[in-house]
Amino acid sequence: MMNLDMDKYLAIRKAQHNGARTVDELKSMTQFEIENDEELKNVEIVLKNACRCKNVSIEDVLNAVNSGFTTLDEVMSETGAGTGCGICKGLVESIITNKR
Ligand code: FES
Repeated sequence: MMNLDMDKYLAIRKAQHNGARTVDELKSMTQFEIENDEELKNVEIVLKNACRCKNVSIEDVLNAVNSGFTTLDEVMSETGAGTGCGICKGLVESIITNKR
């Protein structure tokens, strides 16, 4: 999916869990520097993604919420997000709660 330092990947996921959705928000919530354009591209890919196992985007989750699937279970069965390893369930819940 992407070529990104694991520490940075995990830092992005943690920031997303805490509500970061944009590069600027990420920068204000983490310490790490984005070193070059390729890394920026990879960061943006992760920021758009909600569930890596099932390749579900944040937009997909929001579309489901806007279509009336508002609980974690409903969004999971509608989009598939969270139905693999399950590690993204907290992020999916954060997207549902924050509506972004
Ligand atoms: S990342 Fe979503 S189920 Fe594994």
